[in-house]
This record gives sequence, structure tokens and C-alpha cells, in this order.
Amino acid sequence: MKDRHDNPRDTPPEEFREQLHRLADWVADYRANLEQLRVAPNALPGSIQRALPSEPPNTAESFEKILADIDRIIVPGMVHWGHPNFLAYFGWTVTGPSILGEIITAPLNVNAMTWRTSPAATELEAVVIDWLRQWLDLSTEFGGVIYDTASVGVMHALAVAREEAAPSTRKFGLTSRGLPRFRVYTSDQAHSSAEKAAIALGLGEENVVRVASDSDFRMNVRALREAMARDLAQNLKPLAVIATVGTTSTASVDPIPEIAKVCRENNIWLHIDGAYGGGFALLPEFKSLTEGWAEADSIVINPHKTLFVPLDFSVLYVRNIERLRKVFTLVPEYLRGDTIEAEKNYMDYGIQLGRRFRALKAWVIWRSFGREGMVAFMREHLRLARLFGGWVKGSSDFELSAPISMGVVCFRFVAAPGSSIPDTKVDRLNSKIVEQVNESGNAYLTQTKLRGRTVIRIGLGNVLTTERHLRVAWDLIRETAHSLNGR
Ligand SMILES: Cc1ncc(COP(=O)(O)O)c(C=O)c1O
Repeated sequence: MKDRHDNPRDTPPEEFREQLHRLADWVADYRANLEQLRVAPNALPGSIQRALPSEPPNTAESFEKILADIDRIIVPGMVHWGHPNFLAYFGWTVTGPSILGEIITAPLNVNAMTWRTSPAATELEAVVIDWLRQWLDLSTEFGGVIYDTASVGVMHALAVAREEAAPSTRKFGLTSRGLPRFRVYTSDQAHSSAEKAAIALGLGEENVVRVASDSDFRMNVRALREAMARDLAQNLKPLAVIATVGTTSTASVDPIPEIAKVCRENNIWLHIDGAYGGGFALLPEFKSLTEGWAEADSIVINPHKTLFVPLDFSVLYVRNIERLRKVFTLVPEYLRGDTIEAEKNYMDYGIQLGRRFRALKAWVIWRSFGREGMVAFMREHLRLARLFGGWVKGSSDFELSAPISMGVVCFRFVAAPGSSIPDTKVDRLNSKIVEQVNESGNAYLTQTKLRGRTVIRIGLGNVLTTERHLRVAWDLIRETAHSLNGR
């Protein structure tokens, strides 16, 4: 934007105020009309990019014109993750307070790297991390740090595990003589962030050992012991176990106390991936989820999955957080002045220097709902998951593919039970059901593979999803299945 003397300038205050009011209406209208939109666009790949100018702008454009393009091109090209019929992943949600929290964060735009550069951001981060710790009933031995994602959390946890197992690594890297070949164990249901972390840390993707799970998709501890014994016999060094509370496909929960025992006996790191399921520990009836957590070295929780905070917001807790700081603290001269006399500089707890003020939005949301409000939402999601599961169980041509756990239901169209249709054909049919439902724009589902078979998967976690929306989705799934099967 330029004035008549060609000097650059920001938006004049009165004009900015008007734009903000317009934007407030835009946000409220979007939310009010969300349900009328297609959940997913019917755009062809490349069509959105083609509708946008490929050359960067040389001259200033008005906010009106930009907003008009958002309405004309961007919004119709979105999958609306906050739509009540978006049932993919873990049932994504957007809430009023979450939008307000994001909006307040924008004008502040601080860098939460050191206490000096952002005292309130640093101290509020400590506050919300400790609120969550209390809700999870974790002891004060656990300190935390906010990262963007659980994938980044597990990478940092394994970096500390490795430094403790091979103290020269921070200094000399992977060239240190005598560095053993480390092994990390996780179940065949665990998230791929385990391998990503191993890739990033130079541990090697192949050194993540996938341990078989039982019929309920929980890590088989006997198989874990056997895998470790095999590795030890070959001089491979067990480094860590990643146990999951709420696996990605079925939300199954590994037997943490038994796994913790194996870790203790072998003196290795226990990381708990509670990215999805950890948040359910807020519910007294899910208290048993936290059994064995006290024995963990690190625990990751994604409030952006379960606890109503918008992407991104993930907390890594480490028992004695000083262990994490020791591996990552590094103060360049130009930052020294801004690091003195501070109790905590969050830049010391990870590879990132620049850090968003993520704590603010969590603080706004958690105060707005309180624990009671969040628990009520979560109980409703659990009720909806069970209700949907009941519909599946009551139908003659669908079956549940896994126990219903938390807000996740995995099921499969089986045509006629016991029929002679080959499994591979049924797999294709289930994939096609998901594709066709998603193409309809009326609901959005995901598919996954369980024991080699394709299944349909839904997640309940959206505060806007009601029984009526779920019924629409179920009817659509059944109609689609029957019409595809009849062809
Ligand atoms: C169990 C589990 N762990 C970790 C992750 C990775 O989460 P993020 O996207 O925060 O890295 C996911 C993602 O869905 C997950 O389901």
C-alpha cells in the first residue's frame, strides 16, 4: 500500500478498524453457514492454482479484492475440517473461543524464544503446561514444552534418550566411535512419526522395530520381549519403547504398565504417544488410561486433537525436563543479553529458536470451557461413537472391524456375511464407498487397513456434530454401499 508520495505505509487506523469489523462478520458468517457448504470440494487437482495469478503482485491490492478472491476461489477449494459432517481423522473441531484465541495472538506476534523477549508468553506457556499436567494427574516431576506437533515431540524425546545412552552424540554426532546400533520398539499400529524421528536423528528407519499387536490392536508385550531378546543376541542396543494411548487407526491403548516394566528391566526410555488418547485422561471414567504414566520418561499429548485447541499445539512432557534442556541448550552470542536472569527460556528445549505464542489460544479456550465444558463435549463424542457403533452392529451387511475406542469407529461393508465375494473385492468396495461419500460433498470419511483388510473409519470430536449429522452420514454410507454393490 502506498500514499500519494509513493512511501510505503500500513493500513490507516480507521480503515483497519473497518476491515476488522468486516472480517468479524466474515468469520461469523462462515461459521453460521458452514453446514450449507460441501464438506469437500469437487475441484480437480490444479484447478485452484490455475484460478490464481501465477505472477507475484507488483502493486498494492485492496483488502476487498483479496477477500472477494477468498470467497470465490479459496473457500470453495477447501475441505472444511470444521464441518459437522467432517468425520475423518479424529473428528476435527473449531470452536468460538479457539477462533478468538487465534485472533488475539495475531496482533501480538511475539517470538516466545526467551523470557526477556516475551515474558508473558513464556510464563503463560508454563501456566498452561502445568494446567494440563494437573488435568492429566501427572506428578510435578514432569515438565513440559509446547511444540507444533507430536512428530516433533517424539523426535526430541528420542534425541534425549540417545544422548543418555550415548553421551558423546550431542558433541561428536554419529561419527563417535563405538556408537551402538540403537533399536526403537513400537507396535504395528503406532504412528509413522516413530520412523520419521528415527530418520531425522540418524537412528535409521529400519531400526524402528514394529512389534505385533494382539486381537484388540494393543502391543503384544511377549512379542516385545522376544524382539528385544533377538536384538540383544545380535549386539543391537534397545534404546526406547514408544507405547501408544489411542492409536491412529483404532484408538487402541497399549498395556502401558507391562511395557513400563520391560523398559525398567532393560533400563531404556519409555515414550508414551498420547497424541490422541491422552486428552481423555481428563475424564474420571478414563482414569485407568494413565496407569503406568508415572514410569514414563516422556509423554506427548496433542490438545489440537482432543482438547479443543486449534492446530498446532502439542505438549511434550519429560520426567525431569532438565534432561531435555541439557541436550538442546545452545546460546549464541547475539542472544546472550536476552537470556540472562531468566528462569526459563523455551528456546533451550528444542531445535526451534523462533516460537509462536501458542499458549495464549489454549489459555483462552480452556478458560472459556473449563474442565467441565470439555468433559461434557468429550462425553457427547463418546456417546455418538457408541451410537454409531450400535447402528453398525444392528445392520446385516456391515460389521465392526475393531472395538470402539474413544471417538473412533472402524467398520466394514461385508455385503452378505459369510458370502463368497473375495476379500479383495470387498476391500475395493469399501475404498470406493469412502471415495464416493467424500466426492458427494455431504460427508467426509477415511479408510485404513486392519490386518490387511480395508475398513472405513470415522472419528467423533467435532463440537458441531450432532446425532442428526451422524444419521445423515450413516444413511449415505449405506445407500452408497448398496448402490455400488448392486452394480
Ligand atoms: C497416535 C498418533 N501419534 C502421533 C501423531 C502425529 O501427530 P502430529 O500431526 O501432531 O505430528 C498422530 C497423528 O494423527 C497420531 O494419530
